[in-house]
Amino acid sequence: MPKGTILVTGGAGFIGSHVCDALLAHGYAVRCFDNLSTGKAANVSHLEYDPGFSFVKGDLGVPRELAAAMDGVSAIVHLAALGSVPRSIADPLASEAANLAGFLHLLEAARDARVDRIVYASSSSVYGDSQELPKREGREGRPLSPYAVTKAMDEAYAHLYHSMHGMRIIGLRFFNVFGERQDPEGPYAAAIPKFIRAFLAHRPPVINGDGRQTRDFTYVGNAVLAVRCALAVGEAASGQVFNIAYGDRCDLLALTDRLRSHLARLDPNIAQVRVEHAPGRAGDVRDSLADISRAREQLGFMPAFDLEDGLTRAVPWYAENWR
Ligand SMILES: NC(=O)c1ccc[n+]([C@@H]2O[C@H](COP(=O)([O-])OP(=O)(O)OC[C@H]3O[C@@H](n4cnc5c(N)ncnc54)[C@H](O)[C@@H]3O)[C@@H](O)[C@H]2O)c1
Repeated sequence: MPKGTILVTGGAGFIGSHVCDALLAHGYAVRCFDNLSTGKAANVSHLEYDPGFSFVKGDLGVPRELAAAMDGVSAIVHLAALGSVPRSIADPLASEAANLAGFLHLLEAARDARVDRIVYASSSSVYGDSQELPKREGREGRPLSPYAVTKAMDEAYAHLYHSMHGMRIIGLRFFNVFGERQDPEGPYAAAIPKFIRAFLAHRPPVINGDGRQTRDFTYVGNAVLAVRCALAVGEAASGQVFNIAYGDRCDLLALTDRLRSHLARLDPNIAQVRVEHAPGRAGDVRDSLADISRAREQLGFMPAFDLEDGLTRAVPWYAENWR
């Protein structure tokens, strides 16, 4: 007996494609909604012949496309957005349209279609200029980028739609997610895929700043587990946001050392590739580490993969697909 159809916005993106895989594997039907702006059809092409999977090319900014996509769905996993802090500084209006207006379009379409269970992606960037470590829900700072503003406002709207319309909405604040299919190309690529790509090409990975900045790198398998927990949890978690991370941190110099040793097992010449430094970037936070106790207690979320587990899975994928 199928468990119902879940609409996954941004399903052709990095995290979204893994969520589609996992939901299908757990007996849901999945409707993937994506405008393929940063996502790729290739990320879900392996699902083409799965009878539970369908793909809808559509844009969050077009209400009739959203309304059509919501027909018959029992829940929504909303991951569509324009990621990247630097992108949002370069083009804040594009980030605002996709991440904030797009989210409001989604909430309105869901309200009309009476789909009242929504799990959406927020971001650790909402902690902004707070120096406190670890980061705890309720202790946010001021946003340091347009991207962070859009995610903070999404959280405000989610809370409002929960209290005003009784919708069951749960926010997941993802911390630096990495893994297979994360795009290593272009100016807005995230650190891990960008560094792996550079090492594979025998080019020095470029670290912005001194490399001592720390991140709570979170393997995508943990993000997927959190989505599944949030879809299954009872009413009490509705209207809330949860840190989703592994709960440990690593600085960029140590990260590049680990990547080098993983990759040198596949290509010994990579052992000689050294890193280069460039100036620090506007909008970047210095340190990031999540307290995940709220997600553990209220969602039943237990990360299953540490950084090493994640690199062991992701690095060979890049070596195979991007060499
Ligand atoms: N990757 C991370 O480290 C990270 C960290 C924190 C939060 N997040 C959030 O998680 C979500 C997924 O991120 P990701 O890393 O998989 O990014 P991604 O770019 O790989 O995926 C986003 C997807 O959304 C689609 N999209 C963008 N604008 C759209 C629009 N207007 N209409 C329809 N589809 C649209 C893109 O084509 C893409 O497939 C995003 O909301 C992101 O802000 C990601």
